[in-house]
Amino acid sequence: MRVAFFSTQSYDRLYFEEVNISHQHEISFFEVTLSEQPEILQVASGYEAICVFVNDQLSANTIEALASRGLRLIALRCAGFNNVDLTAAMANGVKVVRVPAYSPYAVAEHALALMMTLNRKTHKSYNRVREGNFSLDRLDGFDVNGKTVGVLGTGKIGQAFCRIMLGMGCRVLAYDRVPSETLKEAGVLYTDLTSLFSESDIISLHCPLTPETKHIINQDSLAQMKHGVMLINTSRGGLIDTAAVITGLKSGIIGYLGMDVYEQEEQLFFRDLSETIIKDDGIARLMSFPNVLVTAHQAFFTRTAMEQIAKTTLQNITEFDAGISLLNEVRLD
Ligand code: NAI
Repeated sequence: MRVAFFSTQSYDRLYFEEVNISHQHEISFFEVTLSEQPEILQVASGYEAICVFVNDQLSANTIEALASRGLRLIALRCAGFNNVDLTAAMANGVKVVRVPAYSPYAVAEHALALMMTLNRKTHKSYNRVREGNFSLDRLDGFDVNGKTVGVLGTGKIGQAFCRIMLGMGCRVLAYDRVPSETLKEAGVLYTDLTSLFSESDIISLHCPLTPETKHIINQDSLAQMKHGVMLINTSRGGLIDTAAVITGLKSGIIGYLGMDVYEQEEQLFFRDLSETIIKDDGIARLMSFPNVLVTAHQAFFTRTAMEQIAKTTLQNITEFDAGISLLNEVRLD
């Protein structure tokens, strides 16, 4: 099948070309991010399938325009699908498939990495020691053991994160619309959002971005949190109201912020902008705080995860091409 890949990086080619040996799809790799711009829609014209990533925007206009030019399948090479207008896809007869699970451990372990870096300041030690500064001044952290950790969303990634935290001797509180019995048996305490916000020393976000969860971290939720709380977001930037979080950092309510995702990341992430003037004042302000650690949506990025993403994505496309039922279809319901 002819497939146009958008937002392609060199590593995408590497993993997908290897796995495609056994699928033999005709892949065109494009670096550009998919959007409504006419010249970009032109690039996708005539392809029955497109393969997209987290920051490609599949709005109703884009889907309608591409469906009229032959599009029949949107293959997401990620788990989240908040960037696809599913109503428009259904209305235009375009199927949507995704990679529901590739390595929940990759993301959960990155959340831990953010947490431990912020806590023990290893990023600062690294720089200090290289400059011959062996002082421990202001590098003090805290024992995670015994702390209360709140986990918002206990799907595949949230569950993996809960288990890591239990292993570190934490009291783990969780909130999810569908609590997991196995997590309860493992010792996780499900609670309401208010208790999770008010009792947690560390809060980690693992729910999807939906109209219900957009800006779930806002002025009101921050007001319920412990002074100096650590907030970790490896899920989607839109879960956090950036302006409210900046205010929370200034007031000290937020003692540490680790983020792998950012509300306006489409204009920034996955690019080398080191010689460019960053026009986004939100990210610039966030990066100016000494207790904020930003990574550029790399939580998924392990070799295990990339191999699995390539295998599942190409299998999804092969299933569609063969006209058989789609194991990983995303449906409106
Ligand atoms: P999942 O679908 O297994 O779990 C999501 C959980 O969130 C479910 O248990 C669901 O019931 C719960 N949930 C949904 N709405 C909720 C609400 N309003 N309040 C509380 N809980 C709610 O998804 P998975 O694989 O665990 O991924 C979670 C998110 O992580 C994805 O949606 C994606 O946005 C993000 N992600 C980030 C990556 C990165 O590289 N930074 C990579 C992969 C996923």
